[in-house]
Amino acid sequence: MDSFALIIFGITSNLAQIKLIPALYDMAEKGLLPENMSIIGIARKPMSPKQFQKYFHETLHLQNIHHQHEIKEEIFKQLSKRLYYVDGHLDDSQFFAKLKDFLNKLNKSGRPCHNRIYYLATYPDLYQHVFKNLQKQRMNQQKNGWVRLMIEKPIGHDLSSAKALNKLLLKYFTEDQIYRLDHYLGKETLQNILTFRFSNGIFEPLINKDYIDHIQITASEDFGIGRRGGYYDQVGALKDVGQNHQLQMLAFSTMDAPSEFSNEAVTKERLKILQKLQPLPQKIVFGQYEGYRNKQNVNPKSNMDTFYAFKTYITNERFDNVPIYIRAGKKLKQTVTEICLVFKTPVNRLLKHLDCGDEPNVLIYRIQPNEGIVLKILTKVPGHEAKLEPEYMQFCYRADPHSHKIPDPYERLLIDTIRGDQTFFNDAEEVEAQWAFIDPLVEKRGKPIIYKPGSWGPEKADELIRSDGREWLEPSMDFCRI
Ligand code: BG6
Repeated sequence: MDSFALIIFGITSNLAQIKLIPALYDMAEKGLLPENMSIIGIARKPMSPKQFQKYFHETLHLQNIHHQHEIKEEIFKQLSKRLYYVDGHLDDSQFFAKLKDFLNKLNKSGRPCHNRIYYLATYPDLYQHVFKNLQKQRMNQQKNGWVRLMIEKPIGHDLSSAKALNKLLLKYFTEDQIYRLDHYLGKETLQNILTFRFSNGIFEPLINKDYIDHIQITASEDFGIGRRGGYYDQVGALKDVGQNHQLQMLAFSTMDAPSEFSNEAVTKERLKILQKLQPLPQKIVFGQYEGYRNKQNVNPKSNMDTFYAFKTYITNERFDNVPIYIRAGKKLKQTVTEICLVFKTPVNRLLKHLDCGDEPNVLIYRIQPNEGIVLKILTKVPGHEAKLEPEYMQFCYRADPHSHKIPDPYERLLIDTIRGDQTFFNDAEEVEAQWAFIDPLVEKRGKPIIYKPGSWGPEKADELIRSDGREWLEPSMDFCRI
C-alpha cells in the first residue's frame, strides 16, 4: 500500500472519538498502516504534541460500545509515533497556509505527504471553507501524488441541498477523489449479501416476486439519543438512518447481479434499485419515545421522529407488487438490525394443516448482533408422530464474543480509500436518488406518536403491516448465539 498522510479535520469530534481513533488503533494492531504513514489531527484547541498523544490515549480508553477490546500499550506506542497535531480554525485561510507548510516539512523529514486523505469529521457548515482554502493553497491538486476526500453521511439534508453539496464538491474535486461514506456500506455482514447471492447458484433464482411474499427491514436500538440531542433534534430518525443505512440494506438485498465486481458495475445496480423505489407518503408512521423531549439540547416541544415505519415497492419486473416494510427507531425493545425475505407458502404444502405447518420460510440477513445468514425452515420433530417445528439453517460469524474477526466498517472503508476503491462508497447520483425517495416521506412528518421505551414503537406501526394481513417478525436471538 502507498504511504500517505491522513489529515482529519475535527479530530476532537464525537465521530473521531467513537469511530476513527479506534479504527486507526485496530489498523495499527493488525499492521495495516503503511510504513511512514502519518496522522495529522486538526481542531481549534491548542495542544502540544504530548497533549495530543495523551488525548489519543485517553480517547482509546473511553467507554465505547463499538470498541471493547484491550488497548495494548506497545501498539499505542508505535501508533503515537505517527501522530501530529495542528490547531486552527477551518474558516481561516491563514491556517491552511500553516498546514501546507507543516505538511511540506513533514514530507522533508521522511514522512511522505504527497498522497493525502482529507477526512471531514467536522460540521457541514465548514465544508465550503475547507474546500475553498484547500484550493487556494492548491492542496486539492494531484500533481505529486493522489488526493482523496472522505465525507460522511448525511450528504445534505434533502434533495436540493444534496445536489448543491455534490455540485460544490465537484467544483474542487473530481468524482474519483470523493469518497462519500456511509459506514453501513463497510459492514462485513452487508457486503457478504453480495457473495451469498451472487457467488452461490441456489438462492438467487428464488429471490423474486414468484417466491417472495414480502420483505421486512428492521434497525432497532434499545438505547436513546444519549448526548447527541443537538444533532439528532435537527435530523430525526428518518434522515439519520432511513435515507442512508436502511436504503443500503435494501439495495444490497434486492439489486440485480452486477456484471463484474467493480465500482462501476456494483454502483450501477445499487442505483437502479434506488431509482425504482416508490415513496408512499400515506403509508408512513412516525413515533417519538417518551422522555425524548427532556434530553439535553432537545427542544422541549420537539416533534422530531425517533421512530418510523413505512411501506414501499420496487417498481421493477423482479419485485413487482412485493411489499417492503421498513422500520427503525431508538429506545425500542431490542437492539437488532436485520433484513428478512419472507417466502410465499404454496397451497399444497405437505402437512400444512399441522401446528406451525403454514409458517413461511424466511431468509434472514442478520447484520447485528448474532451476525449471520439464516434460513428458517420446518423440520420434523423426532418421534413417531407427524409433528413440525421451525428450525434455523445457519451460517454464523462469531464463535467467541471477543474475536474481532469482523473488521469495523471504518477500518474497512479507510483501507478501501487508501487502495482507491470506491465500490463501497456512494456516488452523487445514489445520494440524490435516496433523497428523491425520502423527501416526500419527510413531508408527512407532523406530530409523532409517543411510544413507551422498551416497546416496538407505536401501535400504528403494527396496524400499517397488519392491514395487509401480515405481522412484523419478532427478531429471534435463537440463532448464531455466542
Ligand atoms: C449512525 C446514526 O449513522 O448510525 C446513529 O447517526 C445510529 O443514530 C448508528 O445509532 C447505527 O450504526 P450501527 O453501526 O451502530 O448500527
